[in-house]
Amino acid sequence: MIEVAGAKLHQADAFDFLAKVKTGSVDLVVSSPPYFMGKEYDTSLSIQDFKSIHLRLLPELVRVLKPGGSLCWQVGHHVRGGVSVPLDAIVYGTFAEDEELFLRNRIIWTFGHGEHARRRFSGRHETVLWYTKGDDYYFDLDAVRVPQKYPGKKHYKGPRKGEWSGNPLGKNPSDIWEIPNVNAHHVEKTAHPCQFPVALVQRLVKALCPPGGMVADPFMGSGTSAIAAVHEKRKFVGCDQNAAYVKLAHQRLLELKAGQLKFRPIGQALYVPSDKSAVAQRPPHFASN
Ligand SMILES: C[S@@+](CC[C@H](N)C(=O)[O-])C[C@H]1O[C@@H](n2cnc3c(N)ncnc32)[C@H](O)[C@@H]1O
Repeated sequence: MIEVAGAKLHQADAFDFLAKVKTGSVDLVVSSPPYFMGKEYDTSLSIQDFKSIHLRLLPELVRVLKPGGSLCWQVGHHVRGGVSVPLDAIVYGTFAEDEELFLRNRIIWTFGHGEHARRRFSGRHETVLWYTKGDDYYFDLDAVRVPQKYPGKKHYKGPRKGEWSGNPLGKNPSDIWEIPNVNAHHVEKTAHPCQFPVALVQRLVKALCPPGGMVADPFMGSGTSAIAAVHEKRKFVGCDQNAAYVKLAHQRLLELKAGQLKFRPIGQALYVPSDKSAVAQRPPHFASN
């Protein structure tokens, strides 16, 4: 085990790791499991295996969570030969077996880049299923509000004339999150083939884990969840079976501690064109659609 900045990183199989995590000790489990799509770390290509692993994982994930804790499970699609299986449908069906877990949101994570499909629409979203253990759960909406479309807008008539018409702290970020994915040119890109962005986890940590609380990720890869947790002053425990990824996560945390880690925090504008930016022109034949 490596410990850095309040984060404990294990090189282990997810099941062996979870078996050692204390019952009721975790505020937020956030993870992205293997999709079984032929990545270097995938041990199967079968949807049936994806389902059976999730059936085995479920009781352990629920056991380690505190009552009122959250489980955020991030998945995309299993695409083979142009045929797409939405993995969240499988996770949802599997996790529905548990009586203590309640789905609060199916968050659509949308991003602008990816493979260009030819015989179907190009895939530009994945999802996060957010569950709580029980009904009395931690949720700090104020920590993750985003600017209103018209921030200074006030009621101009009626009994609330002159008062702010929206929450002055900002609005609810909704369940559609536009956050760039980690492609080859992203500042966060490492040697890991399938990172999720820090900002995606950062919002979940701020909203769903109290300050000083515990975040866990049993498939931590390059340690993105650890970075979001430590940056937001939460504790972290996680594992990956691959020693090189654990080393990578350790290195990223050391850089974070030294103030040298490059990442794209939540709330950063997606694109602010400068005066000199070349702006693509609309071809004349696109005049009216
Ligand atoms: C989708 S990636 C997670 C990437 C991570 N979210 C990040 O931002 O880097 C899934 C990870 O699970 C790991 N993994 C696959 N099977 C595992 C197992 N049985 N136990 C532990 N880790 C496993 C892989 O090595 C891979 O790094």
